[in-house]
Amino acid sequence: MYLKRSLPFALAILNILDVTTAKPPNIVFIISDDQDARLGSLNYMEHVQKDIIGAGLDLSNHFGTVALCCPARATLLRGQAAHNTNITHVGGPGGGYPKFRRSGEMNDYLPHWLNKAGYTTAYIGKFMNGYGANSPPPLGWDIADILISPYIYAFNNVVMKRNGERPVHYKGFHQTDVLRVKAVDLLESFTADDAEQKPFYLEIAPVSPHVSGGGFPTTPQARHMHAFPGVVAPRTPNWNTADDELQQGKAAWVRDLPVMNKKVVEASDASFRARLQGLLGVDEIVEDVVALLAKKGLLEDTFIIYTTDNGFHLGQHRVPGGKGLPYIEDVNLPFAVRGPGIACGKVSTIPSTHVDIAPTLLDIAGLPRDQWPPFFDGRSLLPEWQNPEYYASENGNVDGIEREIINVEFWGSATAPAGKYTTHWEHNSYKSLRIVAQNGRQGWLFNRWCTGNQTELYDTVADPYELHNLALDPDVETKRLMDRLSALLLVTKSCGRESCRKPWEVLSEACAQSSVLASSNDFKTLDQAMDTRYDPFFESLPTFGFQMCLPYQLPSNEGPFFPAESEDLGREYRDAATEFAFWLNNGTFAVDTMSLHGDLGQRYMSFEDLSAGARDLTDEEIGWPSIECKAPDYCGTDDDD
Ligand SMILES: *[C@@H]1O[C@H](CO)[C@@H](O)[C@H](O)[C@H]1NC(C)=O
Ligand SMILES: *[C@@H]1O[C@H](CO)[C@@H](O)[C@H](O)[C@H]1NC(C)=O
Ligand SMILES: *[C@@H]1O[C@H](CO)[C@@H](O)[C@H](O)[C@H]1NC(C)=O
Repeated sequence: MYLKRSLPFALAILNILDVTTAKPPNIVFIISDDQDARLGSLNYMEHVQKDIIGAGLDLSNHFGTVALCCPARATLLRGQAAHNTNITHVGGPGGGYPKFRRSGEMNDYLPHWLNKAGYTTAYIGKFMNGYGANSPPPLGWDIADILISPYIYAFNNVVMKRNGERPVHYKGFHQTDVLRVKAVDLLESFTADDAEQKPFYLEIAPVSPHVSGGGFPTTPQARHMHAFPGVVAPRTPNWNTADDELQQGKAAWVRDLPVMNKKVVEASDASFRARLQGLLGVDEIVEDVVALLAKKGLLEDTFIIYTTDNGFHLGQHRVPGGKGLPYIEDVNLPFAVRGPGIACGKVSTIPSTHVDIAPTLLDIAGLPRDQWPPFFDGRSLLPEWQNPEYYASENGNVDGIEREIINVEFWGSATAPAGKYTTHWEHNSYKSLRIVAQNGRQGWLFNRWCTGNQTELYDTVADPYELHNLALDPDVETKRLMDRLSALLLVTKSCGRESCRKPWEVLSEACAQSSVLASSNDFKTLDQAMDTRYDPFFESLPTFGFQMCLPYQLPSNEGPFFPAESEDLGREYRDAATEFAFWLNNGTFAVDTMSLHGDLGQRYMSFEDLSAGARDLTDEEIGWPSIECKAPDYCGTDDDD
């Protein structure tokens, strides 16, 4: 009798215990390098399509906020806009691994927070530019097996350093194969029967489809080199713009570009094909990761995220290749996620950015909010991923976050890789603001460049290929619109925390307090802000402009600041890092054979096959003992972006 009654009760308690002590989900985060969302690259990735997009949620309005590898990765790992990390380029003085370390940001970023949430953390692949044989390993990861410079873009000459150990040369293998085999091996060990019962976070960061050294196309595995014959870069309406007048309406170096000739077009198309071929290797990583998790019965307990660091263009606006521009091809990113509770087989149009990813991962990991760092500029996307239709609707904006406003920024030089026609441009600094059209509202792209404060305005609804610069000859209405966008840019270009999430609120409060306007007022959208009674307020605000073109972020070059305290630019949460050096790796080069690796046999190689071909770098190759690394923070190497 007693037993009969207490059994369901005991089971109920067990259930409650089960819920409260449930192990948080595992997370596999796969990040390719320089992959476009707008040129169709995802259409060539069968497993990303079937196993992630088809089994999860595709974010069609996900954006990068800085279109360059190292700053984008720092933003992902810290949950902050680049103007707050101050990791703004691939090398010094703007950014690079030594600066991330020197600034102390490496003491307070993603893996530490996930450790607090009880996770085992691992990183495999490309971390940040400037990580070399002599660099101390990144902190926080249980396992950090990182590609080192100067081998990062040498796809058939793989050298990696695991934790603080001596770098290892994997002679005879293609980089993407090495990363795949290592990732699967790690997953095997995390899920082995005798493994620690901890959730894991595994980040896999292949370099493909990034260009090889010198601006030449990426190098795919040998088995993929002949895929997609005859495929050329898509001739989008903004591809190789024929109209000189349209072209000259653009800004900085782009406006003066000539029409790409036949040779340049061929180089650009060859790059496009090589990228698709290289991505087949990345797709195999997805295939094997999913297969292993399925085999272990863990597919339903694991989040799998697929994205990239920044986008890419090939021929748009006459630029034969590259990234770093504020136009849609470089900032709208592939982003797909599957996992427990995530909407399945759907597309979400809710705007989001890479700044939001760190808080989202902590939300998935179940780290209590009082243990989150105080400096996040974004929001957790988890509720939106679980319920995209609701958050996309007019009623969904329960938290007042101004999701449609996207801040994009850049400092310093840009490269336009096109094989032997590669060009390099010094002055590519700009501040950019995008209003993503949602619920039938307006959509705009507004840019201000360091080159004489040139301004661009595109109506992204009527002109989605961003061809007609409306800032050149604005009529009265356009002028009023530009006053609003200019005011928003003044806030977003140096926002921090809440002001990044709600820039209209900053302006609306200032408006309420301003003597220009009598009654108190409230606007939360562009439509509301366009009311003519706010004209005097918006006209009274200063405009943002650069004093000059600099390759890094200097506050005195980028004023004014609104509100004034935003001039702090995240300095409260990091150390000054003005003194750090990049050491050129002066060891001798570990040479591989000249042949192309990654034949069909290596598609199914084992971890043992990989290990059999591995050897430690010699002292001479590392640059020892000639390099005495007295101050480990200063060690690193310079390389391509
Ligand atoms: C750009 O704008 C800033 C701020 O208004 C101003 O100080 C600077 O002189 C402008 N530069 C040029 C070249 O007009
Ligand atoms: C960003 O870094 C540059 C280069 O090291 C430095 O001069 C500048 O003061 C830094 N800016 C901020 C806001 O920390
Ligand atoms: C490497 O750099 C060190 C320090 O700058 C220098 O003393 C040494 O001669 C260099 N070695 C080689 C092989 O270039």
